[in-house]
Amino acid sequence: MELKIALLAGDGIGPEVIREAVKVSNSIAKKFNHKIIWSEGLVGAAAIELTGDPYPQETHKICLNSDAVLFGAVGDPKYDNNPTAKVRPEEGLLRMRKELGLFANIRPTYTFESLLEKSPIKKSIIQGTDLVFVRELTGGIYFGKRGRNKSKDYAFDTCEYTTKEIKRLAKVGFELAMKRSKKLCCIDKANVLETSRLWRQTVQSLEEKYPEVSVSYEFVDAVAMRLIHSPSYYDVLITSNLFGDILTDEASVISGSIGLMPSASVGLETSIYEPIHGSFPQAKGKNIANPLATILSASMMFERSFNLLDESKLIRDLVNDSIVNNIVTEDLSVNGKSYGTNEIGDWIKEKIERG
Ligand code: IPM
Ligand code: MN
Repeated sequence: MELKIALLAGDGIGPEVIREAVKVSNSIAKKFNHKIIWSEGLVGAAAIELTGDPYPQETHKICLNSDAVLFGAVGDPKYDNNPTAKVRPEEGLLRMRKELGLFANIRPTYTFESLLEKSPIKKSIIQGTDLVFVRELTGGIYFGKRGRNKSKDYAFDTCEYTTKEIKRLAKVGFELAMKRSKKLCCIDKANVLETSRLWRQTVQSLEEKYPEVSVSYEFVDAVAMRLIHSPSYYDVLITSNLFGDILTDEASVISGSIGLMPSASVGLETSIYEPIHGSFPQAKGKNIANPLATILSASMMFERSFNLLDESKLIRDLVNDSIVNNIVTEDLSVNGKSYGTNEIGDWIKEKIERG
Protein backbone atom coordinates (compact mmCIF):
# COMPACT_ATOMS: atom_id res chain seq x y z
CA MET A 1 0.00 0.00 0.00
CA GLU A 2 1.15 3.52 -0.72
CA LEU A 3 1.00 5.90 2.26
CA LYS A 4 1.27 9.64 1.74
CA ILE A 5 2.30 11.17 5.04
CA ALA A 6 3.01 14.81 5.82
CA LEU A 7 5.82 15.36 8.28
CA LEU A 8 5.72 18.49 10.43
CA ALA A 9 8.59 18.32 12.89
CA GLY A 10 8.25 21.83 14.33
CA ASP A 11 10.37 23.16 17.18
CA GLY A 12 12.47 22.16 20.16
CA ILE A 13 12.66 18.38 20.49
CA GLY A 14 10.11 18.02 17.65
CA PRO A 15 12.67 17.15 14.96
CA GLU A 16 14.44 14.65 17.24
CA VAL A 17 11.34 12.69 18.22
CA ILE A 18 9.97 12.83 14.67
CA ARG A 19 13.22 11.36 13.34
CA GLU A 20 12.71 8.26 15.51
CA ALA A 21 9.05 7.89 14.52
CA VAL A 22 10.09 8.08 10.85
CA LYS A 23 12.81 5.49 11.42
CA VAL A 24 10.29 3.11 12.99
CA SER A 25 7.59 3.80 10.37
CA ASN A 26 10.03 3.20 7.52
CA SER A 27 11.11 -0.16 8.88
CA ILE A 28 7.48 -1.13 9.44
CA ALA A 29 6.75 -0.17 5.82
CA LYS A 30 9.67 -2.28 4.63
CA LYS A 31 8.61 -5.30 6.65
CA PHE A 32 4.98 -5.17 5.50
CA ASN A 33 5.71 -4.10 1.91
CA HIS A 34 4.30 -0.60 2.00
CA LYS A 35 5.68 2.49 0.39
CA ILE A 36 5.67 5.70 2.43
CA ILE A 37 5.94 9.00 0.62
CA TRP A 38 6.93 11.66 3.15
CA SER A 39 6.36 15.37 2.49
CA GLU A 40 7.97 17.77 4.92
CA GLY A 41 6.30 21.02 5.92
CA LEU A 42 7.21 23.98 8.11
CA VAL A 43 5.27 24.79 11.26
CA GLY A 44 5.70 26.78 14.49
CA ALA A 45 8.73 28.92 15.29
CA ALA A 46 10.69 27.18 12.54
CA ALA A 47 8.08 28.42 10.04
CA ILE A 48 7.98 31.94 11.52
CA GLU A 49 11.76 32.28 11.10
CA LEU A 50 11.62 31.34 7.45
CA THR A 51 8.27 32.70 6.27
CA GLY A 52 6.87 34.94 9.03
CA ASP A 53 3.86 32.61 9.29
CA PRO A 54 3.57 29.73 11.84
CA TYR A 55 1.31 27.73 9.47
CA PRO A 56 2.16 28.72 5.91
CA GLN A 57 -0.28 28.06 3.09
CA GLU A 58 2.25 25.68 1.58
CA THR A 59 2.15 23.53 4.73
CA HIS A 60 -1.65 23.51 4.69
CA LYS A 61 -1.57 22.28 1.07
CA ILE A 62 0.85 19.51 1.99
CA CYS A 63 -1.51 18.39 4.79
CA LEU A 64 -4.56 18.44 2.51
CA ASN A 65 -2.72 16.37 -0.08
CA SER A 66 -1.62 13.71 2.41
CA ASP A 67 -3.43 10.71 3.93
CA ALA A 68 -2.15 11.53 7.43
CA VAL A 69 0.04 14.06 9.22
CA LEU A 70 2.74 13.18 11.73
CA PHE A 71 3.45 16.15 13.93
CA GLY A 72 6.25 16.85 16.42
CA ALA A 73 5.82 19.90 18.66
CA VAL A 74 5.75 23.68 18.49
CA GLY A 75 6.86 26.40 20.88
CA ASP A 76 9.91 28.49 21.65
CA PRO A 77 10.83 30.37 24.86
CA LYS A 78 11.72 33.36 22.72
CA TYR A 79 7.98 33.92 22.21
CA ASP A 80 6.79 32.72 25.64
CA ASN A 81 8.86 35.39 27.34
CA ASN A 82 7.60 38.12 25.08
CA PRO A 83 3.95 38.93 25.88
CA THR A 84 3.83 41.47 23.05
CA ALA A 85 4.96 39.07 20.31
CA LYS A 86 2.76 39.63 17.24
CA VAL A 87 2.81 36.03 16.15
CA ARG A 88 3.39 32.84 18.16
CA PRO A 89 4.41 29.31 17.19
CA GLU A 90 1.34 27.81 18.97
CA GLU A 91 -0.90 29.77 16.59
CA GLY A 92 0.41 27.48 13.86
CA LEU A 93 -0.87 24.40 15.64
CA LEU A 94 -4.21 26.00 16.47
CA ARG A 95 -4.75 27.22 12.91
CA MET A 96 -3.78 23.87 11.52
CA ARG A 97 -6.36 22.12 13.75
CA LYS A 98 -9.00 24.67 12.80
CA GLU A 99 -8.28 24.79 9.07
CA LEU A 100 -8.25 21.01 8.82
CA GLY A 101 -11.47 20.83 10.88
CA LEU A 102 -9.93 18.45 13.43
CA PHE A 103 -12.55 18.84 16.11
CA ALA A 104 -11.79 15.72 18.16
CA ASN A 105 -8.53 14.98 19.90
CA ILE A 106 -8.27 11.40 21.09
CA ARG A 107 -5.85 10.94 23.98
CA PRO A 108 -5.55 7.48 25.52
CA THR A 109 -4.06 6.91 28.97
CA TYR A 110 -3.04 3.45 30.07
CA THR A 111 -0.42 1.99 32.31
CA PHE A 112 2.62 -0.10 31.46
CA GLU A 113 3.15 -2.97 33.91
CA SER A 114 6.87 -2.30 34.18
CA LEU A 115 6.32 1.38 34.97
CA LEU A 116 3.76 1.00 37.72
CA GLU A 117 6.41 1.74 40.34
CA LYS A 118 7.58 4.77 38.39
CA SER A 119 4.41 6.81 38.80
CA PRO A 120 4.27 9.11 41.85
CA ILE A 121 0.80 7.65 42.41
CA LYS A 122 0.52 4.33 44.30
CA LYS A 123 0.62 1.21 42.14
CA SER A 124 -2.58 -0.12 43.73
CA ILE A 125 -4.42 2.97 42.50
CA ILE A 126 -3.19 3.19 38.92
CA GLN A 127 -3.13 -0.53 38.12
CA GLY A 128 -5.65 -1.34 35.40
CA THR A 129 -6.14 2.24 34.23
CA ASP A 130 -7.29 2.29 30.62
CA LEU A 131 -9.15 5.41 29.65
CA VAL A 132 -9.49 7.69 26.64
CA PHE A 133 -10.09 11.40 26.58
CA VAL A 134 -11.97 12.84 23.64
CA ARG A 135 -11.11 16.51 23.83
CA GLU A 136 -12.94 19.10 21.72
CA LEU A 137 -10.23 20.77 19.68
CA THR A 138 -11.49 23.56 17.46
CA GLY A 139 -13.80 25.56 19.69
CA GLY A 140 -14.29 26.89 23.21
CA ILE A 141 -12.10 29.46 24.89
CA TYR A 142 -9.22 28.63 22.54
CA PHE A 143 -11.10 30.16 19.63
CA GLY A 144 -13.57 32.59 21.23
CA LYS A 145 -13.30 36.36 21.06
CA ARG A 146 -10.40 37.76 23.02
CA GLY A 147 -8.72 41.08 23.45
CA ARG A 148 -7.65 44.02 25.56
CA ASN A 149 -9.07 47.46 26.11
CA LYS A 150 -7.30 50.57 24.87
CA SER A 151 -5.31 51.20 28.04
CA LYS A 152 -4.35 47.50 28.04
CA ASP A 153 -5.25 47.01 31.70
CA TYR A 154 -8.21 44.77 30.95
CA ALA A 155 -8.22 41.54 28.96
CA PHE A 156 -10.86 38.94 28.09
CA ASP A 157 -11.16 35.49 26.53
CA THR A 158 -14.55 34.09 25.65
CA CYS A 159 -15.75 30.50 25.77
CA GLU A 160 -18.30 29.79 23.09
CA TYR A 161 -19.90 26.56 21.89
CA THR A 162 -22.69 25.68 19.48
CA THR A 163 -24.89 22.61 19.73
CA LYS A 164 -23.42 21.44 16.44
CA GLU A 165 -19.88 21.53 17.79
CA ILE A 166 -20.86 19.68 20.95
CA LYS A 167 -22.89 17.07 19.09
CA ARG A 168 -20.19 16.05 16.63
CA LEU A 169 -17.64 15.76 19.44
CA ALA A 170 -20.03 13.81 21.67
CA LYS A 171 -20.75 11.39 18.82
CA VAL A 172 -17.07 10.48 18.63
CA GLY A 173 -17.23 9.80 22.38
CA PHE A 174 -20.41 7.70 22.20
CA GLU A 175 -19.07 5.67 19.30
CA LEU A 176 -15.80 5.02 21.07
CA ALA A 177 -17.72 4.03 24.21
CA MET A 178 -19.73 1.51 22.15
CA LYS A 179 -16.47 -0.15 21.10
CA ARG A 180 -15.15 -0.20 24.65
CA SER A 181 -16.94 -0.69 27.95
CA LYS A 182 -20.00 1.45 27.07
CA LYS A 183 -19.22 3.97 29.79
CA LEU A 184 -19.04 7.65 29.00
CA CYS A 185 -18.28 10.59 31.27
CA CYS A 186 -19.15 14.12 30.20
CA ILE A 187 -16.94 16.60 32.02
CA ASP A 188 -18.17 20.16 32.48
CA LYS A 189 -18.72 22.95 34.96
CA ALA A 190 -22.48 23.10 34.54
CA ASN A 191 -22.95 24.47 38.06
CA VAL A 192 -21.38 27.73 36.84
CA LEU A 193 -20.93 27.99 33.08
CA GLU A 194 -23.65 28.44 30.45
CA THR A 195 -21.56 26.66 27.79
CA SER A 196 -21.34 23.70 30.16
CA ARG A 197 -25.10 23.65 30.57
CA LEU A 198 -25.42 23.51 26.78
CA TRP A 199 -22.90 20.64 26.74
CA ARG A 200 -24.91 18.70 29.31
CA GLN A 201 -28.22 19.30 27.55
CA THR A 202 -26.80 18.34 24.15
CA VAL A 203 -25.13 15.17 25.40
CA GLN A 204 -28.32 14.22 27.25
CA SER A 205 -30.29 14.59 24.01
CA LEU A 206 -27.97 12.06 22.34
CA GLU A 207 -28.39 9.46 25.06
CA GLU A 208 -31.49 7.89 23.51
CA LYS A 209 -29.52 7.15 20.33
CA TYR A 210 -27.04 5.11 22.35
CA PRO A 211 -29.23 3.33 24.91
CA GLU A 212 -26.45 0.85 25.77
CA VAL A 213 -24.04 3.56 26.87
CA SER A 214 -24.23 4.63 30.48
CA VAL A 215 -23.41 8.31 30.76
CA SER A 216 -22.25 10.17 33.83
CA TYR A 217 -22.00 13.94 34.13
CA GLU A 218 -19.25 15.22 36.37
CA PHE A 219 -17.80 18.60 37.24
CA VAL A 220 -14.29 19.24 36.04
CA ASP A 221 -12.92 20.00 39.50
CA ALA A 222 -14.25 16.71 40.85
CA VAL A 223 -12.83 14.82 37.86
CA ALA A 224 -9.41 16.37 38.47
CA MET A 225 -9.50 14.75 41.90
CA ARG A 226 -11.06 11.41 41.01
CA LEU A 227 -8.64 10.97 38.11
CA ILE A 228 -5.87 10.74 40.67
CA HIS A 229 -7.56 8.70 43.39
CA SER A 230 -9.56 6.28 41.22
CA PRO A 231 -8.44 6.49 37.57
CA SER A 232 -9.70 3.02 36.71
CA TYR A 233 -13.24 4.25 37.40
CA TYR A 234 -13.16 6.04 34.03
CA ASP A 235 -13.33 4.75 30.47
CA VAL A 236 -14.26 7.29 27.76
CA LEU A 237 -14.32 10.95 28.78
CA ILE A 238 -15.56 13.80 26.63
CA THR A 239 -14.86 17.42 27.36
CA SER A 240 -14.23 20.92 26.06
CA ASN A 241 -10.97 22.21 24.66
CA LEU A 242 -9.44 23.81 27.77
CA PHE A 243 -10.66 21.25 30.31
CA GLY A 244 -9.29 18.51 28.04
CA ASP A 245 -5.95 20.24 27.68
CA ILE A 246 -5.50 20.44 31.44
CA LEU A 247 -6.86 17.02 32.39
CA THR A 248 -4.82 15.13 29.80
CA ASP A 249 -1.57 16.54 31.17
CA GLU A 250 -2.75 15.49 34.60
CA ALA A 251 -3.62 12.01 33.33
CA SER A 252 -0.15 11.56 31.88
CA VAL A 253 1.22 11.27 35.42
CA ILE A 254 -0.67 7.97 35.73
CA SER A 255 1.27 6.27 32.93
CA GLY A 256 4.62 7.47 34.25
CA SER A 257 5.67 10.20 31.81
CA ILE A 258 4.13 12.73 29.48
CA GLY A 259 6.79 11.47 27.06
CA LEU A 260 4.64 8.38 26.54
CA MET A 261 1.35 9.93 25.57
CA PRO A 262 0.26 9.86 21.91
CA SER A 263 -2.82 11.44 20.36
CA ALA A 264 -4.89 11.56 17.21
CA SER A 265 -6.71 14.67 16.06
CA VAL A 266 -9.56 13.74 13.76
CA GLY A 267 -12.41 15.48 11.98
CA LEU A 268 -13.13 16.75 8.51
CA GLU A 269 -9.79 16.70 6.65
CA THR A 270 -6.51 14.82 7.09
CA SER A 271 -5.96 13.52 10.64
CA ILE A 272 -2.95 14.58 12.65
CA TYR A 273 -1.00 12.29 14.94
CA GLU A 274 0.98 14.07 17.61
CA PRO A 275 2.49 13.51 21.04
CA ILE A 276 0.66 15.44 23.74
CA HIS A 277 3.88 16.92 25.10
CA GLY A 278 5.30 20.27 24.06
CA SER A 279 8.57 21.28 22.44
CA PHE A 280 10.63 20.89 25.67
CA PRO A 281 13.18 23.52 24.59
CA GLN A 282 15.53 22.78 27.51
CA ALA A 283 16.19 19.36 26.00
CA LYS A 284 16.59 20.46 22.39
CA GLY A 285 19.60 18.91 20.67
CA LYS A 286 20.61 16.92 23.76
CA ASN A 287 19.35 13.55 22.52
CA ILE A 288 17.49 12.98 25.80
CA ALA A 289 13.86 13.49 24.72
CA ASN A 290 11.57 10.49 24.94
CA PRO A 291 10.46 9.58 21.39
CA LEU A 292 7.88 7.00 22.50
CA ALA A 293 4.88 9.38 22.48
CA THR A 294 5.62 10.16 18.82
CA ILE A 295 6.33 6.54 17.96
CA LEU A 296 3.01 5.58 19.60
CA SER A 297 1.34 8.38 17.63
CA ALA A 298 2.67 6.71 14.47
CA SER A 299 1.13 3.47 15.71
CA MET A 300 -2.24 5.23 16.07
CA MET A 301 -1.76 6.56 12.54
CA PHE A 302 -1.26 3.08 11.02
CA GLU A 303 -4.41 1.93 12.78
CA ARG A 304 -6.75 4.86 12.28
CA SER A 305 -5.75 6.37 8.93
CA PHE A 306 -4.69 3.21 7.09
CA ASN A 307 -6.47 0.42 8.95
CA LEU A 308 -3.13 -1.40 9.19
CA LEU A 309 -3.78 -3.17 12.46
CA ASP A 310 -0.84 -5.60 12.55
CA GLU A 311 1.58 -2.79 11.78
CA SER A 312 0.08 -0.66 14.52
CA LYS A 313 0.14 -3.46 17.06
CA LEU A 314 3.73 -4.40 16.31
CA ILE A 315 4.84 -0.85 17.12
CA ARG A 316 2.84 -0.85 20.35
CA ASP A 317 4.22 -4.22 21.40
CA LEU A 318 7.80 -3.15 20.70
CA VAL A 319 7.35 0.08 22.64
CA ASN A 320 6.19 -2.09 25.50
CA ASP A 321 9.22 -4.40 25.08
CA SER A 322 11.61 -1.46 25.08
CA ILE A 323 10.14 -0.28 28.38
CA VAL A 324 10.19 -3.78 29.90
CA ASN A 325 13.85 -4.09 28.89
CA ASN A 326 14.67 -0.67 30.34
CA ILE A 327 15.69 0.69 26.94
CA VAL A 328 14.35 4.07 27.95
CA THR A 329 15.26 7.74 28.09
CA GLU A 330 16.08 9.35 31.42
CA ASP A 331 12.48 10.33 32.24
CA LEU A 332 11.63 6.62 32.53
CA SER A 333 14.89 5.26 33.90
CA VAL A 334 14.43 3.01 36.93
CA ASN A 335 17.97 1.77 37.49
CA GLY A 336 19.91 4.95 36.79
CA LYS A 337 20.75 3.80 33.27
CA SER A 338 19.21 5.56 30.32
CA TYR A 339 19.52 5.71 26.54
CA GLY A 340 19.59 8.48 23.96
CA THR A 341 16.57 9.44 21.87
CA ASN A 342 18.13 7.87 18.78
CA GLU A 343 18.99 4.63 20.58
CA ILE A 344 15.33 4.02 21.42
CA GLY A 345 14.38 4.26 17.73
CA ASP A 346 17.37 2.11 16.73
CA TRP A 347 16.39 -0.58 19.24
CA ILE A 348 12.80 -0.74 17.99
CA LYS A 349 13.90 -0.66 14.35
CA GLU A 350 16.27 -3.55 14.88
CA LYS A 351 13.53 -5.59 16.55
CA ILE A 352 11.22 -4.95 13.57
CA GLU A 353 13.92 -6.02 11.12
CA ARG A 354 14.94 -9.10 13.05
CA GLY A 355 11.47 -10.23 14.17
C1 IPM B 1 -1.58 20.46 23.47
C2 IPM B 1 -0.76 21.71 23.65
C3 IPM B 1 -1.36 22.83 22.81
C4 IPM B 1 -2.77 23.07 23.32
C5 IPM B 1 -0.56 24.14 22.81
C6 IPM B 1 0.86 23.92 22.35
C7 IPM B 1 -1.23 25.20 22.01
O1 IPM B 1 -0.64 22.05 24.99
O2 IPM B 1 -1.65 19.96 22.33
O3 IPM B 1 -2.14 19.98 24.44
O4 IPM B 1 -2.98 23.77 24.31
O5 IPM B 1 -3.69 22.51 22.72
MN1 MN C 1 -1.60 20.63 26.34
